[in-house]
Amino acid sequence: MSTVAVSSSGPVGGPAHGGPELPQERRLVTEIPGPRSRELLARKQAAVPQGVGTALPVFVTRAGGGVVVDADGNSLIDFGSGIAVTSVGNAAPRVVERVRRQVGEFTHTCFMVTPYESYVAVCEALNRITPGDHEKRTFLVNSGAEAVENAVKVARHATGRQAVVVFDHAYHGRTLLTMTLTAKNLPYKHRFGPFAPEVYRMPMAYPFRWPTGPENCAQEAAAQAIDMIVKQIGAENVAAVLFEPIQGEGGFVVPARGFLPRIAEFCRKNGIVLIADEVQTGFARTGHLFACEDEGIVPDIVTTAKGIAGGLPLAAVTGRAELMDRVHVGGLGGTYGGNPLACEAALAVLETIESEGLVERARQIGETMLPRLRALAERHPVVGDVRGRGAMTAIELVRPGTKDPDPATTAEVVKRCHAEGLLVLTAGTYGNVLRFLPPLVMPGHLLDEGLSIIEAAFDRVAGDADI
Ligand SMILES: Cc1ncc(COP(=O)(O)O)c(C=O)c1O
Repeated sequence: MSTVAVSSSGPVGGPAHGGPELPQERRLVTEIPGPRSRELLARKQAAVPQGVGTALPVFVTRAGGGVVVDADGNSLIDFGSGIAVTSVGNAAPRVVERVRRQVGEFTHTCFMVTPYESYVAVCEALNRITPGDHEKRTFLVNSGAEAVENAVKVARHATGRQAVVVFDHAYHGRTLLTMTLTAKNLPYKHRFGPFAPEVYRMPMAYPFRWPTGPENCAQEAAAQAIDMIVKQIGAENVAAVLFEPIQGEGGFVVPARGFLPRIAEFCRKNGIVLIADEVQTGFARTGHLFACEDEGIVPDIVTTAKGIAGGLPLAAVTGRAELMDRVHVGGLGGTYGGNPLACEAALAVLETIESEGLVERARQIGETMLPRLRALAERHPVVGDVRGRGAMTAIELVRPGTKDPDPATTAEVVKRCHAEGLLVLTAGTYGNVLRFLPPLVMPGHLLDEGLSIIEAAFDRVAGDADI
């Protein structure tokens, strides 16, 4: 039997572990990706199907604060947080401490077999901090997709109805149901059908792309959506309306103000369960604990994942007690849902958000980023829109003077940023959105440096695209 080779090469000159003690600096010692990462990429390509894509093929050995360190010793500024997961930072000290303690005590029992306190504590916390002061129940699962699937199960069971309403540009996951709930064909749905039945898609109030202008967007989009629901499905057949308070993979679309309250009111009047998918927006990311708070939306069910547990796989469904308790015993659960390590991590995340003031910090990150991104848009007409809230911001690239998406320039800017040691991600139905999701613990000097790299990338790349 051959041995299993796992590199333990660490950062050059840094501590032997990750976390905020890593030098908070951008440091490039090779090209990006470097030789060691390229070797590992070749192994990946031979071992992992190409369907599992990679945004930036640097292989990580340490990460913490605002940096990711790779196998060649490069230290990159992280504007991605593993897609909005490591909001408290990678290897955050409280997370490490609690998980380390737990891993030596027990690693798994299955909560449905023999329970443990940390699971209950996470559920109590979510019941307390999610929007609304009504009585709630929470149960824990493994991923955002699983949380959304379960929210739909609860809504269908509780209402005895089947239809689920979702929106244009939505992303809810990659399982059969959540891929169906997702709007975009490539890469998420292409050739993966047939899809799940009883899913209906309505227009989203996307201000930048609303045909009659952003000022009419909330009113007209809500009126169209409600009209289509009533005419095409019948409100009395709708189990749930599922929405992202700010759309994530769809391009950080912030629904026009007033749209969501109108939809929420329609749901309330018609006995439809309103499900907020806060998988990407939740846990302080947008400058509120939950993005729904911005317009005072109180959903019947909230799904959370990603930022909830500092990188350990955990997700949750939190809902009105009278809905959640209707499901029969044994109707909800799963082998790993609420794993004890992940629960300890979630408790540590909550402590960290509170003690380090990360809700406020997310707001400050937005206050730093948005003005500089708006100034960038002034200089470069290829930047058609700047949007977002808190530490969830984005720019949308178009051909100047039009709203035609410009994914090619977007890809060029990303390439340039990566080469300079700034990890950025794209999003959007048309692949023309640059999105920024720094860890909330990112030091100010790295945030500034990251923004300067983006500005320089536009100065280099966007010259032709601006014309
Ligand atoms: C809003 C939203 N819902 C659901 C999901 C799916 O979460 P997961 O990848 O953990 O299944 C995502 C992931 O990006 C998301 O952004």
